[in-house]
Amino acid sequence: MTIAITGSGSGIGAATAAALRAAGHDIIGIDLRNADITVDLTDAAARAAAVEAVLERSGGTLDGLILCAGVGPQVPDPNLIVEINYRATVALLDALLPALRKGENPAAVVVSSVASTHLKWEDNPIAKGAEAEAFAQAGDYAGSYAYAASKNAVTVAVRERAVEWGAAGVRLNTVAPGSVDTPLLQAGLDDPRYGDAIRNFTAPIGRNGEPEEIASLIVYLVGPQAGFIHGAQFVIDGGVDAQARPTAV
Ligand code: NAI
Repeated sequence: MTIAITGSGSGIGAATAAALRAAGHDIIGIDLRNADITVDLTDAAARAAAVEAVLERSGGTLDGLILCAGVGPQVPDPNLIVEINYRATVALLDALLPALRKGENPAAVVVSSVASTHLKWEDNPIAKGAEAEAFAQAGDYAGSYAYAASKNAVTVAVRERAVEWGAAGVRLNTVAPGSVDTPLLQAGLDDPRYGDAIRNFTAPIGRNGEPEEIASLIVYLVGPQAGFIHGAQFVIDGGVDAQARPTAV
């Protein structure tokens, strides 16, 4: 299979790329650095150039697309969090659907977060295009607000595409990790606004996840064994969501 992966240079994306390479697949890595295609996905023109580069490398046909690139709540500009975690992800999904349609058993997986469940779409300022004003009023909470809003929006965007993508023969799902030991989580731990909250919180299972554990779910979802799984979100969080919302089924 030929599979494009954003965020391939670190953490969950790097672990996923390694697992798929080990299984013999052709990987097109996309990241800020140490990738086949180096690009800053926050920039719309650069995104379009990255899509062209993917199409050139793949010959216009993709069997898989995995969108892991993202930033955490500690990024100083909350609007940038939305731009990379939500807008860039949706832009790549839509731009690469035609290449996926030509693939064999094609599928895409988006890495959202258990934070996607922290607010409802009806309350998400991105739904009304009013996020800049909402974040400006959120003070120290702006980063984690923007992170949850961006992940809620990307999960909704995937679910909204289930009908069109299903008809096109391309499966599309999200994974929603809890805390996973990666540089992104470490950056949150190092931030004085969020560090203690992250440090003092332990999942029911008693530890953080490892990137390889998230990668194994992504590899399953992008593969042919997951042929009937479509439009779904898979929480992989050591029990955090069940603890916080036991009756939300
Ligand atoms: P990471 O920091 O190890 O990897 C993220 C990758 O995205 C990096 O290689 C980075 O260079 C790339 N990236 C960031 N901004 C970019 C940009 N503008 N253009 C191109 N590439 C860019 O982080 P991790 O943890 O592996 O994150 C992967 C995904 O998992 C993210 O979407 C994150 O929000 C999500 N996630 C992570 C959790 C965690 O606790 N680590 C929990 C829940 C979700």
